[in-house]
Amino acid sequence: RGKRAFIAGVADDNGYGWAIAKSLAAAGAEILVGTWVPALNIFESSLRRGKFDESRVLPDGSLMEITKVYPLDAVFDNLEDVPEDIRTNKRYAGSSKWTVQEVAESVKQDFGSIDILVHSLANGPEVSKPLLETSRNGYLAAISASSYSFVSLLKHFVPIMNPGGASISLTYIASERIIPGYGGGMSSAKAALESDTRVLAFEAGRKHKVRVNTISAGPLRSRAAKAIGFIDMMIDYSLENAPLQKELSAEEVGNAAAFLASPLASAITGTVLYVDNGLNAMGVGV
Ligand code: NAI
Repeated sequence: RGKRAFIAGVADDNGYGWAIAKSLAAAGAEILVGTWVPALNIFESSLRRGKFDESRVLPDGSLMEITKVYPLDAVFDNLEDVPEDIRTNKRYAGSSKWTVQEVAESVKQDFGSIDILVHSLANGPEVSKPLLETSRNGYLAAISASSYSFVSLLKHFVPIMNPGGASISLTYIASERIIPGYGGGMSSAKAALESDTRVLAFEAGRKHKVRVNTISAGPLRSRAAKAIGFIDMMIDYSLENAPLQKELSAEEVGNAAAFLASPLASAITGTVLYVDNGLNAMGVGV
């Protein structure tokens, strides 16, 4: 039987989530995605209208099939968590069952189990503010959307993950080195995500034989990254200073994720894998 993957955080064909979906599909996996509720309509209609067909082409010439798109908002665990203003917001009212627990239940009902869980989402409302100017709410929102969202996804999906399964998230080196401009508590959120990768590897490994790893990716011009505002500078910096002087493609991160999710990586868990043209290893720019 082929493997089944649930990828949270796909809303267009530019980001890491899309590229990971493609690499997993090319390796024979069935693809389910979780799309942020406010982005759902545009994503689904673009898919239907063939807007992504060019980027759906797999190495063998076939088109990636997405078996099902689930609406998801990973900052809410269940209905009781959803405040009135969101519940009645017109972008949310058109969809249902989009809290983490409900999505896991729906996937269980539709498919029974999954093998691969991918977390490719982040949000920090104050990302463009320095940490020193970040509000408590902004900081906690960054942690909620970017770190706890992974804890919650794994918590709710791990009971339906087959033994030998794997989960993967995306992190950024701002967790461990100073990257001015990556503010709003996003650097803190990535540090939490990396630490949680180790603790969850232990807990999910012992209890469910599920592996937990995170990919520390280099800069990509995704929708989320463009919103931060310094992505072109980071791409130029990497081109200039990394051991491998080429632009990083989303596909390279997708392929590393497919490796980590595969039996080729069956002894790898609790790790941060750099997929960044080696930039992390540099001490000074030359
Ligand atoms: P992206 O814009 O393709 O992906 C982020 C996704 O998160 C979007 O689809 C957005 O709709 C979704 N999202 C935001 N809040 C959500 C919520 N509450 N519930 C559900 N979905 C939500 O951008 P990108 O850059 O591919 O981001 C994917 C991951 O890669 C993130 O964790 C990001 O921090 C990480 N990353 C990105 C780098 C870059 O340079 N683009 C570098 C290193 C890591």
